[in-house]
Amino acid sequence: PLVAETEAIVKQFEYTDEDVNRGVKEFLRQMNEGLEKDGTSLAQIPTYVTGVPNGTEKGLYMAVDLGGTNFRVCSVKLNGDGTFNITSAKVAVPKHLMVAKTAQELFAFLALQIKKFLEKHHGDHFEAHIRRRMTVSSPDGYKDEHAFRMGFTFSFPVQQMGINKGTLIRWTKGFDIPDAVGKDVCALLQDEIDRLQLPVKVAALVNDTVGTLMAHSYGAPGTHGAVLGAIFGTGTNGAYLEKLSNLKKPLVGDYDKSTGDMVINIEWGSFDNQLNVLPQTPWDTALNQQSVNPGFQMYEKLVSGMFLGEILRLAINDLMKNPRISFFRDDNSSTNDLRSTTDIAETSPIYKQWAVDSTILSVAAGDHTPELSLLRKELDDSLQIHAAAREDAQAFQAIAAAIGTRAARLSAVAIAAVVLKTGKLTDPAYEGQPIDIGVDGSLVEHYPYFRGTIQKALECVEGIGKEGADRIRIGLAEDGSGVGAALIALVAAGMEKHST
Ligand code: BG6
Ligand code: GLC
Repeated sequence: PLVAETEAIVKQFEYTDEDVNRGVKEFLRQMNEGLEKDGTSLAQIPTYVTGVPNGTEKGLYMAVDLGGTNFRVCSVKLNGDGTFNITSAKVAVPKHLMVAKTAQELFAFLALQIKKFLEKHHGDHFEAHIRRRMTVSSPDGYKDEHAFRMGFTFSFPVQQMGINKGTLIRWTKGFDIPDAVGKDVCALLQDEIDRLQLPVKVAALVNDTVGTLMAHSYGAPGTHGAVLGAIFGTGTNGAYLEKLSNLKKPLVGDYDKSTGDMVINIEWGSFDNQLNVLPQTPWDTALNQQSVNPGFQMYEKLVSGMFLGEILRLAINDLMKNPRISFFRDDNSSTNDLRSTTDIAETSPIYKQWAVDSTILSVAAGDHTPELSLLRKELDDSLQIHAAAREDAQAFQAIAAAIGTRAARLSAVAIAAVVLKTGKLTDPAYEGQPIDIGVDGSLVEHYPYFRGTIQKALECVEGIGKEGADRIRIGLAEDGSGVGAALIALVAAGMEKHST
């Protein structure tokens, strides 16, 4: 009976080839809609970045990154030959600041981390700045052309008004500070930097996917550059280069028109918020209703690391409550294990909303031991489910795999749609060449077979097929938020010169 009950759950997470194709068509439709007007579910945000780098870019820049697992501060030396040197520090954002009363509390914390970083790693630069500053009589009128140009990776949906100006549309990934919504996040950060009198100018606003796209292109000089930069981490999203002629929405800020292109931040976490094609099991529905943003980020809630653990937790709880079986409640094992009955601590994360980390899906997927000893150890260590029977662990593994596989196949939908949208598979300039996609984020880095499952699902897509899928090369992008943000700060610094 346990096997049958497990299968009934697994079946609900199936996402067939036909579903993939339906998803791709709808994704393309929503991409086009987002290029035409504001307020659509795929926001298709113009970034004011009008090209991808070619590896020859040079200089020393700073970059900070908010929106993934950690807040990072770095300085990046671009060497001009596709290589770079990076110095970085990272710190977890305290939970209370993710839901602070005022935006200022969060941004003051960020500025303080920048100060600590400068003192530790760029003391000379910092002191020279303080000396220069002391020689001018009016600090307010003081403009420091020696200040570090900084790229600010802020990985939330932002309405951009220029390369370093943009207002927050809404928070995602568990952040919730209503005071910041509608405000210019670059100005919020610059104000706090100025309050600490740091020699730093926020030169560019960068989504992590845009940084990933730039970094993956910089790191492969002599190629066409990456076609898509994507994150599969706490959240999920992608950025690609679109022809300006396809962008029908009005642009308010200045940009370089000569390339004819612009990088678009798709904000695909909100693909199909209206649920035209996305699957919804009862556990997805429950998760959405209990989230801080019901009805938003509906695709992200099926795909990204922040949510997979919770989907699994909800499905497992149903199995635990199933009166027909004694899952995790008794010894289901027919084998001679050296344990009596399973024991779950009352404080187990399995009983607590959002408490199951998605890393357990990675452990489950990677455990090929006959007794599932790795997974059972993880159940013990992180979920306080002690002495789980092998059969129960198998059921857990099957459900985790179903959730992970669905996430990867859904990821293929977004990737396939963007590849088809760019037309690169049939572009003569790319003939016989790979189509490069840069990816980053904890899920794609740590979940075994995630990329392989995506790659396989791409084969079933009409217009791609096996031959096309073989040309799509999904590579881990090195340090998107560091190098990518530095590259955009460089572009922005160039624009400053042109405009003065
Ligand atoms: C990091 C990038 O490697 O991945 C960040 O530098 C990005 O810019 C992050 O936001 C996403 O992954 P996660 O798992 O931290 O959300
Ligand atoms: C969320 C954010 C988006 C970001 C993604 C990955 O979807 O809204 O801006 O790119 O997470 O971090």
